[in-house]
Amino acid sequence: MKNLGILLSGRGSNFIAIAENVASGNIPDSRIAVVVSNRADAQGIETARQRGLNAVVIPSKGKAREEHDREVVAALKENKVDLVCLAGYMRLLSLWFVQQFPQRILNIHPSLLPSFPGLEAQEQAFAYGVKVTGCTVHFVDEELDHGAIIVQKTVPVLDSDDEETLAARILEQEHVAYSEAIRIVLEGKFEIVGRRLVGSKR
Ligand code: GAR
Repeated sequence: MKNLGILLSGRGSNFIAIAENVASGNIPDSRIAVVVSNRADAQGIETARQRGLNAVVIPSKGKAREEHDREVVAALKENKVDLVCLAGYMRLLSLWFVQQFPQRILNIHPSLLPSFPGLEAQEQAFAYGVKVTGCTVHFVDEELDHGAIIVQKTVPVLDSDDEETLAARILEQEHVAYSEAIRIVLEGKFEIVGRRLVGSKR
């Protein structure tokens, strides 16, 4: 049984999609061991409580990055977390944090990286005028939205779109992509060659 640790800062819809796939066996042999939010007012942490999950708030406000990261890592280790899933966790992790879970931290980003990293990726893509965008699940390293890519899903940008309809179309794919990526990583049948995640021959 693998222990997942979810980190979030807001709405938590990716967390819910993961939780549902864990509950239905679509992500086999796993459980959500802890949900951590850096914000007490995150809707996602309320949802975690309602679902009877172990939900912890570790406020980041007013703390140095490493100090906060140490508290979060302590909570993850206490709960014997095998895989850390950032799900709308709006903080950059320190190198120290990343080193505590080598190739064991995933993030989801609402664009086809390396296009449009950072905040408001959907709005950035819309404003740029791309005809195709999507989402990316990737390993986390100490650079923003940067580590090796696990899964990408594309969505078209329609003439009739505004930022909201586009973001909603991307979000639907995020909810599929994240669980797919978790399955791949937990299965472990891959290797990383340079930046490329490829199926291993084992
Ligand atoms: C998602 O769109 C996720 O891709 C994005 O925040 C949203 C969180 O929604 N993450 C980033 O932009 C990270 N750079 P959710 O709380 O409903 O899962």
